[in-house]
Amino acid sequence: MTSTTAFAWAHPHPFPIRSAGYGFTAASLAMFALIVYFNVEAVSNDSDRSSSKTTFARVPTLVYLTILLLLGLRTALWVQHDSLVTYHPIDLLIWEAKQQHDAYTNQSTRSTSLDEALQNYRTRYNRQPPPNFDKWYEYATERTSLIIDDFDSIERDLLPFYTLSPEEIRERTWELISNPWNDAAGLSIRDGKVEISPHVVPTHRWMLDGLVEMIGFFAEWLPDMDLAFNLNDECRVAVPYEAVEPMRAQGRAFGDPTASVRNTFSPDRAAQWTPIPEEPITTTPLTELSFQRTFQPFGSVGCPPSSPARSQNRWSVASLCTTCTAPHSHGIALSNWTLAGNICHQPDVASLHGLYLSPAAFKGSHTLLPIFSQSKAHGFNDVLYPSAWNYMDKAVYRPSEEYPDPDWKSKNATLFWRGATSEGVSPGGGQWKGMTRQRFVHLASPNTTSPSQAILLPTSKSTNTAPRLQYTSLSPSVLRSLLPVDLQFVSSILRCGGRDCGDQAAEFAPLAEPSDFQGHWGYKYLLDLDGAGFSGRFLPFLHSKSLPFKAALFREWWDDRLTAWVHFVPLDLRGQGMWATLAYFAGVNGTIGGRSFDVEGRDVEGERIARVGREWAGKVLRREDMEIYFFRVLLEWGRLTDEGREGIGFSGADDP
Ligand SMILES: *[C@@H]1O[C@H](CO)[C@@H](O)[C@H](O)[C@H]1NC(C)=O
Ligand SMILES: *[C@@H]1O[C@H](CO)[C@@H](O)[C@H](O)[C@H]1NC(C)=O
Ligand SMILES: *[C@@H]1O[C@H](CO)[C@@H](O)[C@H](O)[C@H]1NC(C)=O
Repeated sequence: MTSTTAFAWAHPHPFPIRSAGYGFTAASLAMFALIVYFNVEAVSNDSDRSSSKTTFARVPTLVYLTILLLLGLRTALWVQHDSLVTYHPIDLLIWEAKQQHDAYTNQSTRSTSLDEALQNYRTRYNRQPPPNFDKWYEYATERTSLIIDDFDSIERDLLPFYTLSPEEIRERTWELISNPWNDAAGLSIRDGKVEISPHVVPTHRWMLDGLVEMIGFFAEWLPDMDLAFNLNDECRVAVPYEAVEPMRAQGRAFGDPTASVRNTFSPDRAAQWTPIPEEPITTTPLTELSFQRTFQPFGSVGCPPSSPARSQNRWSVASLCTTCTAPHSHGIALSNWTLAGNICHQPDVASLHGLYLSPAAFKGSHTLLPIFSQSKAHGFNDVLYPSAWNYMDKAVYRPSEEYPDPDWKSKNATLFWRGATSEGVSPGGGQWKGMTRQRFVHLASPNTTSPSQAILLPTSKSTNTAPRLQYTSLSPSVLRSLLPVDLQFVSSILRCGGRDCGDQAAEFAPLAEPSDFQGHWGYKYLLDLDGAGFSGRFLPFLHSKSLPFKAALFREWWDDRLTAWVHFVPLDLRGQGMWATLAYFAGVNGTIGGRSFDVEGRDVEGERIARVGREWAGKVLRREDMEIYFFRVLLEWGRLTDEGREGIGFSGADDP
């Protein structure tokens, strides 16, 4: 009863579906139990101390009254808790997201001159910009960068590092890249040239070549330094909340927007970096947790101790944890992408993602280590940089004669996904059942055992002027007959051991033939899911004329730039909104339980999001934008690692 009451109280929106009968039975049973309890208590009191009869006589009236009051309140709540909605939540979310995006562009693109950019930097970050900011500004404007002011993600990433001395940052970088076991590769910048440090495994050579190419464009403006890059997909550094919050506060206090500063890095920086030894060192600051649960030791340590992620365990993942989804959902739809990435209110993700269940390679630390990663989950302190995967066009949008990108109208209106079971490793303990990729494919597979899924359908009471919608639970086989989906694993089951290989092969059979990546453009709706790290396909999806649906735990460098529901369609990691969201865009045509439905899809909206996302990506997620972002990260990093960091920066165009 407590849970249903709390739910009715907190969720005026009627999702998930809870029948009124269920609620009423729960309430009545609880009341009945209370009455019985008080009577039994009274009787036992009676026999113990026959003199205390007066208490017994007085309490029940009060108790009965209270109970009656509670039942009344509960019924009132249920009566008010209407099961119908008058508008589709996604309509509202799309409208809200437009305002949000307008507000973002308004503040991120304001500066039109170096002076304004300088002023803006000082107001935002309360310090002077780093040395060579003018060179950065020139670089960005020459490449017509739309975003000049809003680089808050860099600020968020770097704040804790102001509490480390330049020497500590240098030592920790050296420790990381001097031992190949750490899976961290070094790059060193000397006299404006970039070089790859020794001990890099050949399989990851392409990544460093990409980085060298990217940094090469602006290396002449960077000071001498060594950098450590994470070669694994999984993120690394999670400093506990209790330690990192004071560090952030201290970082915010760094610098002074009115200080007079030198627009140059300190000389003789090269000598300060200890050379990487020919013979690798054998000590490491990292602990390995590959194939193990990482949520408790790493995933949630960045959350406040009182938050559900740290104070609660949720083992049952068979039912939807509504307290976990409510803060970032509106009914069945995901309403706040930023908040959805915050795991502190979501203890259930511990069992819902490969990173937390059983990562393939996890070497992490609770000490603030200076490492650059392509993506990270909430609570990790890695410094984000634009992935070389996208920069080097490892997955690229390149339609051809053979695989064209047709106009929206000519695309196949199917939700499409192909991929491998590479999100995490399932060594035999059934871990695969919790992984996002497996769960989504399972939700849509023809031989699925998954329970009914809700979608919103018009009720018989609807009129044209007053549409009424109702959540309706449908079995996956009915849904599949109404809405086309094609989500499949390709060729063979990877990263498994013991019985998990056979189990998955049976569950996901038949596996799809490998297909050309460019074949995606034939479909209207492209699903994008995390792998072991971020999904490298998302940017190509965005550049295409198709509409990307994205469910992700990992966040990348561009996260502030895109707005969910304006540029792409967000889905909850749990997948509960997948069918309903698809139904919103694709429409529902068919007979369900004797009633025939002809609900028109919001095709125009779908096409518009696909087009707006494509146009926006063409402006702010180009290769040039990756360089501009990285340039700015490394200028800040140059100042952080400078012995004279208090006294250097850029204070104006007239600087000597
Ligand atoms: C843009 O920002 C300015 C200054 O903060 C504000 O006055 C204006 O209302 C904003 N415009 C929009 C469309 O948000
Ligand atoms: C989404 O959540 C973030 C973080 O709690 C909050 O700052 C932001 O205002 C929310 N956005 C909307 C549109 O509600
Ligand atoms: C659309 O794609 C689905 C799944 O890939 C396929 O079964 C179907 O035949 C395609 N429809 C058309 C009209 O090509």
